[in-house]
Amino acid sequence: MIYLDNSATTKPDESVVRSYTKVATDFFANPSSIHIAGGEVEKLVSESRKQIASLLGIHEKEVFFTSGGTESNNMAIQGIAYAHQKRGNHIITSAIEHPSVLGTCQQLEREGFQVTYLPVNETGKISIDDLKNAMREETILVTLMHVNNEIGSIQPIEQVADVLKEWPAAHFHVDHVQGFGKVSLPYSHEGIDLMTISGHKIHGLKGTGLLLKRRGVTVKPLFYGGGQQDTLRPGTENPAGAVSLAKAMRLALEQQRNYPSVGSLNRTLRDRLKEIPNIQINSPDDAIANILNFSVLKFKPEVLIHALGEEGIMVSTKSACSSKQNEPSHVLLACGFDTNDTAAAIRVSMHMNQSKEDIDTFLTVLYEKIKNIEELMG
Ligand SMILES: Cc1ncc(COP(=O)(O)O)c(C=O)c1O
Repeated sequence: MIYLDNSATTKPDESVVRSYTKVATDFFANPSSIHIAGGEVEKLVSESRKQIASLLGIHEKEVFFTSGGTESNNMAIQGIAYAHQKRGNHIITSAIEHPSVLGTCQQLEREGFQVTYLPVNETGKISIDDLKNAMREETILVTLMHVNNEIGSIQPIEQVADVLKEWPAAHFHVDHVQGFGKVSLPYSHEGIDLMTISGHKIHGLKGTGLLLKRRGVTVKPLFYGGGQQDTLRPGTENPAGAVSLAKAMRLALEQQRNYPSVGSLNRTLRDRLKEIPNIQINSPDDAIANILNFSVLKFKPEVLIHALGEEGIMVSTKSACSSKQNEPSHVLLACGFDTNDTAAAIRVSMHMNQSKEDIDTFLTVLYEKIKNIEELMG
């Protein structure tokens, strides 16, 4: 199989799976139990937390284990909204966020919060001036993704964090799910209060993730229960998940050195796709290297995705969680693309060790399939 859908999920690294299995099998005691076996497991969880904190240059008390990106985004957005609603009820986000952010913001709007959805330009970027104009005294949260999961546009997170330093009531949450292990952020930046990371996007396991929360930032918990994780995320911890996530994160940061080689594959893809008639590249030139979105105009993407799948090549349309809904991509529409072109979009997303052979085979098969389908259509 040539797997080119790494923004939807990645193949777990074998050593990560081995760590998971070892901990799940040999260290199954409850980390909150006070007996010796519980203490050993507790140590594994706290060691994992320390390792993650040291990888990111932050304090271990700022690391909270969750079930993944969707949960962390909900914890951050709802958590800030409910904790600070006496101070203000205004939230700023962008029009191209992941559904776990947009859906949460829409629910908060139904509850009386006001949400500004910043527009993006044709390259999928917000403008700092738009952000400055949208800021109000009542703004309690700005939540933005670092890297867009459909087109790979990269937001100016550090610039936003610098702007927000002047607005002490406004918290800043970054959805770093697609950026981690590809484009670094200053994790200890004083202007960034909360950050989301997901394990299964970085060759870790599904059901693992993180919310990073700067010390001193108050967030209302979504769940109530035992006192685990400082009562912010109670419930019996997932020690195997924690150990495996720390390992996946370390490996992902090591693999980041391969970014230039993925950049070169991206250039090959762009150059060769441009030679095929009726192909429009939708990702901006300065997008993240591992994601390339393009439309084969007048083609239904499902037909091509199915035809490629028959040859063992996996690509996708938009984000996996909304790809079964037959609607044009909200991301491409927000960038100003025509509705028909938007409906024809295909996303190739590579991992950091993708080979040139994979990309060459993909291009050859894509070319053949387009030709065959065109001949059939007459
Ligand atoms: C940018 C972004 N944020 C959040 C998520 C949700 O992460 P998870 O699948 O871990 O819930 C995704 C998943 O596609 C994503 O791409």
